[in-house]
Amino acid sequence: MCGIIGVLSKDSVSERIFDGLSRLEYRGYDSAGIATIHDNSIHKRRSEGKLQSLKSILEKDPIQGYTGIGHTRWATHGSPTYHNAHPHTTDRVAVVHNGIIENYQTLKDNLIQNGVVFSSETDTEVVVHLIDQELRNGKTPELAVQKTLSQLEGAFALAIVFSQDPKILIGARRGSPLVVGIDENNLFLGSDAWALAPWTQKICYLEEDDVVVMKNDDVNFSYTIFSGEGKIVSRPLKNLNLATGAASKGVYSHFMLKEIFEQPQTLSDTFLALIDEKTFETRIELPIDFTKHHSRILLVACGSSYYASLTAKYWFEKYARIPCEVELASEFRYRDPVLTENDICIFVSQSGETSDTLAALNLAKAKNCSTLAIVNVPESSMARAADYCILTLAGPEIGVASTKAFTAQLAVLCVLGLKIAEQRACLDKQNLFEYFKELLHLPKLVTHVLQDVSVFDALGQRLSMASDILFIGRGTNYPVALEGALKLKEISYIHAEAYAAGELKHGPIALVDKTIPLIAISPNDNWFEKTSSNIQEVASRGAPIIMLTNDLEFTLDCRDFCKILLPKTGSLNNCFIYTVAMQCIAYYTALHKGTDVDQPRNLAKSVTVE
Ligand code: G6P
Repeated sequence: MCGIIGVLSKDSVSERIFDGLSRLEYRGYDSAGIATIHDNSIHKRRSEGKLQSLKSILEKDPIQGYTGIGHTRWATHGSPTYHNAHPHTTDRVAVVHNGIIENYQTLKDNLIQNGVVFSSETDTEVVVHLIDQELRNGKTPELAVQKTLSQLEGAFALAIVFSQDPKILIGARRGSPLVVGIDENNLFLGSDAWALAPWTQKICYLEEDDVVVMKNDDVNFSYTIFSGEGKIVSRPLKNLNLATGAASKGVYSHFMLKEIFEQPQTLSDTFLALIDEKTFETRIELPIDFTKHHSRILLVACGSSYYASLTAKYWFEKYARIPCEVELASEFRYRDPVLTENDICIFVSQSGETSDTLAALNLAKAKNCSTLAIVNVPESSMARAADYCILTLAGPEIGVASTKAFTAQLAVLCVLGLKIAEQRACLDKQNLFEYFKELLHLPKLVTHVLQDVSVFDALGQRLSMASDILFIGRGTNYPVALEGALKLKEISYIHAEAYAAGELKHGPIALVDKTIPLIAISPNDNWFEKTSSNIQEVASRGAPIIMLTNDLEFTLDCRDFCKILLPKTGSLNNCFIYTVAMQCIAYYTALHKGTDVDQPRNLAKSVTVE
C-alpha cells in the first residue's frame, strides 16, 4: 500500500505533489509527507494522520523547489507516527517507498555497525542510508541507486531525489506498481495513472526491476529506463483517457453512501455493456474455450472480491455445470496448487493491483493456465497481465469499504456464468433470455430498496450499541452474509461473524445469548424453510432476531423480532438486493457509532503489500 508521487518540473512542485497525493490517499492514510530540493538542500514537511493535517502544515509553512516527492502511508514497519512518516532523508537524499524491504533488519544491523544512526523504525530508512553511503563514496545518483537496489529483497516502488543534483528524479520498482507520466515541461512518477491524470495522460508503465532516471537539463526533460540487468530499455508509451474530475460526495455525507446510491446506475452500465437490451443476448465474445474436457475454473481473489467469487461458484456450477473452486489469493500463491493447462483462472479485483492476487495471476500464467481478470480499473496491473480482461463499470470507488464495485463484480460474474452455460450448451436460448431479462430489471429493484432507507437507519441505531453480531445465509446469500459481516466490522468496528445457516449449530450457536443480535438473510427461496428453522433455534435461545426477507407471512413468536421486507425477485437477482441491504445496515450502524465511514482505521483500499 502507500501512495508515492514524484515531480520534476520547471515550476514549483509542492502543490502538485499534494494534489497527486489526494488521489492516492485510498492507498493509506496513516501519515503523509513531502520533500523538495531547493538551494541544494532537502526541505521536508510531514504529519501524522490524514492528508488534511499535512495541508495545514504546508499552508503555514510552504516549501519551494522544482523537484520533489510525496507519500501517503499505510504503516507496515513502525507505528503511524511523525518520525516514521515518509519521506525519509539524509542531507544528501530523500526517499519515498511503497512496499516492504524484507531483509531490512540485516541491512540495518550492518549500517548501525558502520556508525549510522536511524531516526525511524521503518524498513525504508535502510534504503536512504545505503544510497547516502554510495553518494559519500563519490558515486553518481544513478550508480548509488543501482548499487543499493542490488542489496534489497522484497517489494518496492521508490521515488528518490538528491540535494546535490536538484534536476534528477529517480524511480525504481520491484513488486509494487510505478508509472511514469510525461509532458513537455514536467516528468512525473506515481503509484497509479489516475494520480497523474489531471497533469498528463501520456503514460509509461515501468516493468519489474526497472529503474527510471529523469533529468531536466534546463532545455529539455528526458528520461531513461534501465532494466534489472542495467540495460537501457524502452517501454511502450500509452495515451490514456482517464476521467480527471475530482471525485466529490455531491449531496451525500459520505462517499460510501453516494456509492451505495450509485448502484442502480453502475449495475445498469455494467449489464448494458454485457447484455443487449433489445435481444436479451450477451455481447461478450468468450475468448476462452470452457468446453474442453477436464476444464475447471479457479476464481482467485481477496477481501470482498473473494466473497463475490464465492457467489459466482454457485452460478458457475449450477448453470454452466463446470467444476469451480474459489481461492484466497494469499493462500493459493504459496500452497503449490495443482494447475494444468486446462485450468481457467479468473482473478477478481476492484483495484487490479492487490499484491497477492497479482502474484497468483503470475503463478497461473507461469503454469500455462488461461487467465482472465475481472477488474474495475482499466490499465491496472492485472488488466495488463491477464490474457483477457472484463471491466466492471462501477467507476472510481473512493469509500474504503467496497459497495458498488462489489455488486458490479457480481453482475459481471453472473453474466459470465450464463455465457459459459450457453457455450457449454447447458441452458437453452429461452432460459438465457429469461435470465438476462431478469438481470436487466435489477437496477429498478435496487432503486426501490434505496427509496426509503429509514428502516436501515433505525436498525443501525440499535445495532450500534451491540458488541457482537451474527449473520447467516444460505446459497448465494451465504457469501452475502460474509460480505455483510465484513462491511459491518470494517466501518463500525463491531465484531461480526457470518455462517452458512446450516453450520450455526456446529459450534457458533454456543455464542448465542440475548446480547448478540442475529441478522438472517432469508428470501422465500428453496432454502426458506430450512433457514426459518435455524432462525427459530436462535430465537428460542433469547437472541434478538433481524430477518431480511421477501416473505410477507413469516412471523416469529419472540420478544425481539424485527422483519425487514425486501422486494420479491427472481433467483439470480436476490443476492444483489440483500447485498445492498447489508451495505445500508453497515453504513447506518457506523454512522450512529460515529466512526470514520470512508476511511476506517487501519484499512486501505488497495493492498499492494503481502
Ligand atoms: C482491501 C480493501 C477491500 C478489498 C480487498 C481486495 O482489503 O479494503 O475492500 O475487497 O482489498 O481488493 P481488490 O482491489 O483486489 O478487490
